[in-house]
Amino acid sequence: MNIQDISNKNYFVFDAFGTLFKTSEVKAELTKIAGEKTDNLINVWRSKQLQYTWLRNEMNRYQPFSVVTKDALDYSMRLNGITDEKVFDILLPLYDTPQLIDGAKDLLKILKDNGKTVAILSNGTCAMLNNGVQLTGIQYYVDHILSVNDIGIYKPQPAVYQMALDTLEATVEELIFFSSNQWDVSGASVFGLDACWINQYGETKEGLPFGTVVETGSLREVSEYF
Ligand code: LAC
Repeated sequence: MNIQDISNKNYFVFDAFGTLFKTSEVKAELTKIAGEKTDNLINVWRSKQLQYTWLRNEMNRYQPFSVVTKDALDYSMRLNGITDEKVFDILLPLYDTPQLIDGAKDLLKILKDNGKTVAILSNGTCAMLNNGVQLTGIQYYVDHILSVNDIGIYKPQPAVYQMALDTLEATVEELIFFSSNQWDVSGASVFGLDACWINQYGETKEGLPFGTVVETGSLREVSEYF
């Protein structure tokens, strides 16, 4: 498909964290506690959070994203020799009370104005996602909130992308999946969904398998196709 064909789709399904919701902007507060270890603390936390979801998938040992996120942070703190529990209070709200990425609300509104069905498909818990949607005021534009918590398995397992098709009663031709996370774009597109990679961080394309993928630089850019 071409990016211009995006407006022909009927079901618009979005990843949550990093795609609609920001997972940054706490550095100043954190630096007071973690000093020069701040970047490493965050980077290890994020990469372990993902690794733990994938490893738990492999082991059939699902625990909700809130637990995995905290376990990963606990590890990163111990690795970096940081004991101040305030770090939990600073970092965990990024997921419990997230903020919107620029252009997200405008795009969602445009989609609703065009009569499209909008869904979120995320590793996040229902509580995280419901909170995020309410707090950021996008509840009017989001028709479905789909959490992997309902099936106890994380992306990029095919069952997660299948859940979107089943719940929305959509065909692959009618649906497009958006994510900033390349591994998620890989998983969704290899499963068979058309995917849009929001490359808002200017990343190099990963050496992973990809199906049908269109690429844009931002959510704002997607709005321009309507
Ligand atoms: C999610 C993470 C993976 O929302 O971005 O599913």
